[in-house]
Amino acid sequence: MRLTAVIGLASALLATLAFADPVSVTPPMGWNSWNHFAGKVSDAVIRAQADAMVSSGMRSVGYLYVNIDDTWEGARDAQGVIHPNEKFPDMKALADYVHGKGLKIGIYSSPGPKTCAGYEGSFGHEEQDAQTYAAWGIDYLKYDLCGLRVLMAKAESPAAAREMMIDAYRRMHAALQKTGRPIVYSLCQYGKDDVWKWGAAVGGNLWRTTEDISDSYLSMAAIGFGQIDLARYAGPGHWNDPDMLEVGNGGMNEEEYRTHMSLWALLAAPLLAGNDLAAMTPATVALLTNPEVIAIDQDPRGSQGERVWVRGALEVWVKPLAGDSKAVGLFNRADSAREAQAEVPLRELGFQGRVRGHDVWKHKDIGMLPETVRVTIPAHGVVLLTVSPGSRPQSASHQP
Ligand code: GLA
Repeated sequence: MRLTAVIGLASALLATLAFADPVSVTPPMGWNSWNHFAGKVSDAVIRAQADAMVSSGMRSVGYLYVNIDDTWEGARDAQGVIHPNEKFPDMKALADYVHGKGLKIGIYSSPGPKTCAGYEGSFGHEEQDAQTYAAWGIDYLKYDLCGLRVLMAKAESPAAAREMMIDAYRRMHAALQKTGRPIVYSLCQYGKDDVWKWGAAVGGNLWRTTEDISDSYLSMAAIGFGQIDLARYAGPGHWNDPDMLEVGNGGMNEEEYRTHMSLWALLAAPLLAGNDLAAMTPATVALLTNPEVIAIDQDPRGSQGERVWVRGALEVWVKPLAGDSKAVGLFNRADSAREAQAEVPLRELGFQGRVRGHDVWKHKDIGMLPETVRVTIPAHGVVLLTVSPGSRPQSASHQP
């Protein structure tokens, strides 16, 4: 590694250690129940996902959190303490099981009286719920606005409604802090009111920037390619969240899922798989566990990529990496089943002088690049490169 690269890496690590919330120095990685299981999540499902996260090799490339989304909630007792419903007989035992696999466990609630699926929310019980989660051994909370909107609608002005929402997010952060347990705090309010401008200030480690993703190229592409001008709000400890992955759920082809993974990595997005980990094809495992793609997402510099070049349906997104390399994604968004040829002058991507390329999905060094890169991009697909100055081969690597 060259001296400049070493110095760059060291200063990125130092900045990260000094300022970032240690629970999310890099974008959180794991799995969430909603996209595949929705209301069918249960204790048995969570145990099976934890088992599969280990046996599939996902844990060893960095996936860590096993997150229970909505529909786990039961009733409050006479003291106001929340209990899980019959699908989760013993939350503490479940958390112990997940921890025993070297993983962490997440849960879901709402600042409103009810969650999106109509279950019990945390309104008026924030401290009590945070204490309950900590006692169970919870490591991650997704806090979903939903039911609070009913109360916000009664506020005297839009500004008062906004204050009510921000206060509610602040209140739960304070309650989590009070437990003394490190808990990743994930805000979910669908990217309203420029959450990226205040999410970190209310203690958010990540905040959803969009409405819900669904398992189609149209939905994924609208969300992923819509993440423009948000890079400056992300960094170690606080991340933009374009929603969970749909890889492996069956609604997109392999090229489209490759686009999904590549784009989320370039965006430094949280990588929360949303499929059934216990029933994956080898192709799905390969998409989710490519260590070079994960290294781009988890790069210690913590910079989110931006779109730097557009010609019709062709787009190039660039993410600066620690040291002096950049990840470059060349995407074909054309509404056609045909591949596309792209000709991209490297100086238009901000590269000066001679650079080398490495094809991330093919795991292949491609040597010195010409001044204009010419690539064939599959329909709805991507060519993902790392590009580094000089004549030395350099590929991304990831040490979880
Ligand atoms: C909202 C969220 C989803 C999911 C559901 C659960 O729609 O955006 O991610 O948590 O609620 O009800």
